[in-house]
This record gives sequence, structure tokens and C-alpha cells, in this order.
Amino acid sequence: MKTKVIQLDTEDLQEGSLGEAAEILKKGGLVAFPTETVYGLGANALDVNASSKIYEAKGRPSDNPLIIHISRVKDMEILAQDIPKKAYQLAEIFWPGPLTIILKKKECVPYQTTGGLDTVAIRLPANHIARNLIEVSGVYVAAPSANISGKPSPTTAQHVIKDMDGKIDMIIDGGSATLGLESTIIDLSGKVPMILRPGCITKIMLENVIGQVEYDPIILQKDPDINLVPKAPGMKYRHYAPEGKLTIYEGEINKVIDAINQKAQEKKENGNSVGVIATDETSTLYHFGVVKTIGSRKDEASIAAGLYGILREFDELRTEYIYSENFADNSLGQAIMNRLLKAAGYRVVKI
Ligand code: TXA
Ligand code: MG
Repeated sequence: MKTKVIQLDTEDLQEGSLGEAAEILKKGGLVAFPTETVYGLGANALDVNASSKIYEAKGRPSDNPLIIHISRVKDMEILAQDIPKKAYQLAEIFWPGPLTIILKKKECVPYQTTGGLDTVAIRLPANHIARNLIEVSGVYVAAPSANISGKPSPTTAQHVIKDMDGKIDMIIDGGSATLGLESTIIDLSGKVPMILRPGCITKIMLENVIGQVEYDPIILQKDPDINLVPKAPGMKYRHYAPEGKLTIYEGEINKVIDAINQKAQEKKENGNSVGVIATDETSTLYHFGVVKTIGSRKDEASIAAGLYGILREFDELRTEYIYSENFADNSLGQAIMNRLLKAAGYRVVKI
């Protein structure tokens, strides 16, 4: 299959520019598009044939459900039933934006889209291209991140081209995803609202709107516990992983830097390729291997935005060993560390 790549300006979208992409979705094809979190791989969520192509293109296990993207809050009522007041309160404050809400599904949503579950994940994205595409196509768009299953999520169209060229109909290049981490997922189908995946919309932000919110216990664990099963099926798979062996060093920053320098030197002397994930504040203090800056410690959002890109850059370089500093695990840092720990397969050295 030939994949067509088109370039659009998110801030200056011309009338009619999404026509061809919308037609592809209507006809059951696959279109990758930018969102404010990561790039998505879209298909008609209510068309079993179309959404099965997503699983095929990504190499994704079929029990891993898809998020359905909508362009109007009221479309939630077409896809979900028994919608609690809290869903409307959250939608009012955080939609359009990086929040996915899990609700009881209506019959029109096929089990192939929900991985066999009776619930459905719904999100109204903020990115103009994403929202217009949904609107113009008139399709509810099932869209996972547009990466090959298990790879870091794509934050640029180049990342999508790398993974999906020749496998899908179209890729819309709308520049870099601004946030860089997937949406926060909150489950409102049970008694107490539960965060299934941390993201840029934090627990405190959610609690300010709807009161008590819990974390799925698996999010808080520092070591993989085989007895805990995540409530979001996708969280159980090895995820976001670079090809090299990533290890996180945790402790007082100067000691972390010394330990990483020592390890990196050792590996270099052994003839291995080495990468270091550093920050604006520390990058000049590393002396071995390829040192890359993820962002600034003074601006956690920059670290979130840089994470997946840096993991992919080390893949391009075929780096065998990657060492990373660790980050505070509160508010946005919680989402950053959740992804970084998974990418590292929970390999942490405490200094
Ligand atoms: O930011 C995002 O959410 C991006 C952009 C493209 O919108 N999408 C995304 O999709 O991250 P994906 O498929 O990579 O991750 C969806 C996660 C998976 O962990 C999946 O298991 C979970 O959402 N999920 C989907 N439906 C669910 C449901 N009904 N119950 C529990 N978890 C669900
Ligand atoms: Mg994903």
C-alpha cells in the first residue's frame, strides 16, 4: 500500500484541506493524525472491518481496547449509557483536551473496538486537525497511538512514517505534538472514579472538579507485581520501550551523575554504544557516550514533551545501553515516571 503524507498547519487550517482524509475514514481506511498528546492512528470505530485494520497495522493484541475520539460533547451519549453527572463536569472543564473518560458502552459500539469490555473509552481532543477531521468525516474515530505496538508513542509525523509507511492510507503531518504523553484515562464506570493511566491532567486537577479520585494501584507500584492486573488492558504490555537497555538512576543528583558517568565509561571501554538522558541543568556534566537533553528540570512539561522523541533518537543510533536520571514523581512527574519506568522495564538503580 502507498501511504500518502500531507502537511497541514494546525493553527491555519484551510477549508476543505481535510476532505481526502475524511473520505478515507468514511470508506473504512486508516489515517494517522496529530493530537495534542501523541499522533493517533484513526479508523471508523463503529465499523468492525475498519478498526480491525488498526490492530493489524500496529501489531496490537486484540484484547487491547481503543479510545473513541469525538468532536462534540453530546456525542458521548451516542456511544455511552448511564452517564454520571461527573462525566459532564469533567467534559465541561477538560474537553477538548488530554482526558479520556471510560463509561458503560451502548450497543452500537462493537466489542472489537472495546476489546470485549462492556465499557468504552471516549476523548474529545483539542488539536484542530484532529477535531476537524472527526467533524468533517462524520465518523467516530477509534485511534490508538500511531506506533508499532510496544514502541514509544509518536510525537512527530516522522515517527509515524517510520512505523507506518506502507501500512496505512494517509499520514497528516501537523507538526510536533505539544504535550508528548498520552491522555489521562479516568474510569467513571465504577463506584469511585479511578485513574487508569496518569497524564497531563493530574489527580489533583480532577479532584478539584469531581471530588475523590483513586489511582489504579498498579500505577503506584515501583516494581512489577505479577499479582496486580491493570484495569486498562494496554497498561499490561511492555510499552514505550526503546531497543537498547534503559536503566534509571535514582538518588541525589550529583551522586546519580557520578554513577552514570562510571557505568557509561565502563560500557564504552567494553566497546558498547552508550546513551545518557540528561537535562538542560546537567548535560555538560556527563563525559561518556551520546548525551541528550530531554528538557529542563524547571519545566516538567518540557520533559514530558521530550521523552518519546529521545527514546526514538537512541533507537536510530542503535544505542545498546541508555542511562537516565530520574524525575520527581508528583503531579506531571507521575506521568513521566510511569512511562519512563515502563520503558526501562522497571530497571532502577538506587544510589
Ligand atoms: O492521548 C491518547 O489517549 C492517544 C491519542 C491518539 O488520543 N491515544 C492513546 O491510545 O494513547 P492507546 O490505544 O495507545 O491507549 C489507550 C489505552 C490502552 O491502555 C487501553 O487499554 C485503554 O486505553 N483503554 C481503552 N478502552 C478502555 C476501556 N474500555 N477500559 C479500560 N481501558 C481502556
Ligand atoms: Mg499506545
